[in-house]
Amino acid sequence: QVIRLEDYRPTDFLIHEVDLLVCLFEGRAEVRAALTVERRPGSPEAASLSLDGDELTLTSLALDGERLPEGSYEVSPEALTLHGLPASGRFTLSIGTTLEPEKNTKLMGLYRTRGVWCTQCEAEGFRRITYFLDRPDVLATYRVRIEAPRAAAPVLLANGNPVESGPLEGGRHFALWHDPHPKPSYLFALVAGDLDVLKDDFTTAGGRKVDLAIYTEKGLSARSVYAMDALKRSMAWDERRFGREYDLDVFNIVAVSDFNMGAMENKGLNVFNHKYVLLDPDTATDGDYAGVETVIAHEYFHNWTGNRITCRDWFQLCLKEGLTVYRDQEFTADERSRAVKRIASVQLLKSQQFPEDQGPLQHPVRPTRYREINNFYTATVYDKGAELVRMIATILGPERFRAGMDLYFERHDGEAATIEDFLLCFEEAGGRSLERFRLWYAQAGTPTLSVRETYADGRLTLSLSQRLARGAAGTGTEPMHMPVRFGLVGSNGADMEAVPRAEGAKAEDGIIHLLEEKGEVVFEGLPERPLVSILRDFSAPVTLDFPQSREDRLALARLDPDAFGRWRALADLVGETLADAGRTGFSPADAAPVLQAVAAGAADEALEPSLRAQMAALPGEGEIARLVGQDVDPGRVHRARIAAMAELGRIGGESFARLLAEGAGEPFSPAPDSVGRRALRNTILAFVSLAAGDASRAERQFAGATNMTDRLAALAVLAHHFPREAATRKALERFHDTYAGDDLVLDKWFMLQASAAHEDALADVERLAAHPAFKLANPNRARALIGGFASANPLAFHRPDGAGYRFVARMLTELDRLNPQTAARLATAFRSWRSLEPGRRELAAQTLRAIAQGKQISRDLKDIVDRSLQ
Ligand code: ARG
Ligand code: ZN
Repeated sequence: QVIRLEDYRPTDFLIHEVDLLVCLFEGRAEVRAALTVERRPGSPEAASLSLDGDELTLTSLALDGERLPEGSYEVSPEALTLHGLPASGRFTLSIGTTLEPEKNTKLMGLYRTRGVWCTQCEAEGFRRITYFLDRPDVLATYRVRIEAPRAAAPVLLANGNPVESGPLEGGRHFALWHDPHPKPSYLFALVAGDLDVLKDDFTTAGGRKVDLAIYTEKGLSARSVYAMDALKRSMAWDERRFGREYDLDVFNIVAVSDFNMGAMENKGLNVFNHKYVLLDPDTATDGDYAGVETVIAHEYFHNWTGNRITCRDWFQLCLKEGLTVYRDQEFTADERSRAVKRIASVQLLKSQQFPEDQGPLQHPVRPTRYREINNFYTATVYDKGAELVRMIATILGPERFRAGMDLYFERHDGEAATIEDFLLCFEEAGGRSLERFRLWYAQAGTPTLSVRETYADGRLTLSLSQRLARGAAGTGTEPMHMPVRFGLVGSNGADMEAVPRAEGAKAEDGIIHLLEEKGEVVFEGLPERPLVSILRDFSAPVTLDFPQSREDRLALARLDPDAFGRWRALADLVGETLADAGRTGFSPADAAPVLQAVAAGAADEALEPSLRAQMAALPGEGEIARLVGQDVDPGRVHRARIAAMAELGRIGGESFARLLAEGAGEPFSPAPDSVGRRALRNTILAFVSLAAGDASRAERQFAGATNMTDRLAALAVLAHHFPREAATRKALERFHDTYAGDDLVLDKWFMLQASAAHEDALADVERLAAHPAFKLANPNRARALIGGFASANPLAFHRPDGAGYRFVARMLTELDRLNPQTAARLATAFRSWRSLEPGRRELAAQTLRAIAQGKQISRDLKDIVDRSLQ
């Protein structure tokens, strides 16, 4: 069944208040919901009320305290439909349901993880708890009473503020919570369990003292110190940057082991995958620190962009997700380094969103139809969604953008809004039409921006054009408003002052606004031929077609005063070089000038360390494959990349050796410069080890490491590049034995081996799948092994005999019976199958068809597989 945007209409009934009693017992939960309902003024008197359910069992039903007569309702696990309800005025529906949280392996609705009861309701999980109008435009206030055995669950939490708590008979106790802010059901949460806690507080600019708490499984609260710090910084930043204050007396975070996604922004009670809370230097990498900071901020920022203003329907998902990703990106840019964060975001966009946008799973940022909404929590909705908000900020400039945001908060607070509502605020506050801009939300695909330059006698002409090919989504291909940030760089390494004339385009403040298919910008009276630094800041999510000479780009990689511009010039050259190598094989002579520039970037002490690490990093095999385009041979891509790494190690020679030697023994600090130096050294470690064909450096680093970043990086060099050496086996064993009791570290151990590209990789993963610590039902573990293999080990996943595909298909089919949502997500590893060379293409298609024919396939997995094949 397909849900369509054009079919949206408001409900016939309103639910004003929800009074929930949840009684938790070993093996079951009893829920009683008392809903204050009213027929929406103006809706037909004959309309029945159809409430959503999902695998529910009804135990009682009453209207204003009276049992409902036979024939006045119909009930199934999926729906409860009531007829003949009052024509006007409020009435109370009391609904009893009974659940088995211990058996809920889908991890949607109420489930139990490590003894802890918790919930996940976005997108459609509340209907697995009680019958409800489970859609985001039904806003109600919630009062929640939890009753549970005190021994198993001394901690009882729900949304909003605590009201009352106390003992009950038989070793049980209760807690009552009230959330005064009307909210949709997807933001409902409760947690009950025996948890440790870290407490702190924050006083808002308006003087409200907020009690903060992070709850973790027993013995782990020392690891939530950094998350707490990130939370307080997020709260302060949202006040400073967007004037947004927190609005309850408490803010609680709970970290659990079993969670389908990263985290969830339930009002006043965020529930997190513990991967995004728990950290210390011995068990977490610098990447994990960055991830925690980002996700803590993201969920906190949802309090305004998502909770106070929510979405009218799930087609508007990017309204909260794209905007909130934009906000968390800006937070990190302000807290750490703007250029480094921007580069990281662009790398993520290109490696995750571009392949989605260019393959069968393509969809617009605001989709217009879906079968399973959980499959639309995608890089396109989140990350391209954030790019669209960033473009609005670029087009309007910081002041008018902020005015638009202020208007949005003021006008739509307490509402369930749409993308149209959002855009109108920027048109009004910004005084600029977004007519040509709004198409970005509707037209799927990555546009190509072509740029041509001609120069003579102090006169530079830039001709721009845009083109959008129709892809799998079949959406429009009209020209869109593209802001193109640029600079004209002189041989002295400074931007030239130049006032342009434009046709079919507008140019102001360093931005060319391309609104039509073609446009031209002319600069006159230039003192010399400039180096054109185009698409600075990646100001539009496009593929750039600009046949700029290698000399110009190498010069920009050295000279561009804009750090992002330097990186982009170099990264594009490296990408093209590796794509060529991936097509026809690696040629050291062809690659030499580019790899020399990479080595120079790595060694450039004028740059901050993290930027040097980004200059040094080579694109991943997936990204190279995307650049190869058609008839991709993943084996050849793999070999080309390894050859380039080794060659880079040779070119870096002395200077790399010095960098490694200088840094050895640097004490751990999570500060950006320290992080950057570790990243740079660990990037180089792989190059140098490959060049020398020698694992001993990595062995020494592994043995002597004082933090997880250095330890894991060394182990990765061993496992990926020296898989069959005795030292590697010993290191892997030692790592396992040291961290056997630590799930988050063990996930790294599985991931590292699953992503190791070598001849016996498939046998290794099969062995790991039978390891006693492998638990398919735990999403992090399943992602580590299956995701590590299918998405991070192209050589083995794309084995020419198809055995890699078949292994993944078997695992997905098994996982699908436990947790369809996670199975569906992992199945997106097949999304670029059409770009493969014919042999693998056929094998991948066969595998997808076999999965689709599985007898008990879920709607989630079927949707991904069907769309992949279409
Ligand atoms: N709103 C959450 C976030 O982005 C994601 C939750 C998605 N959950 C799901 N089952 N689809 O922070
Ligand atoms: Zn989000």
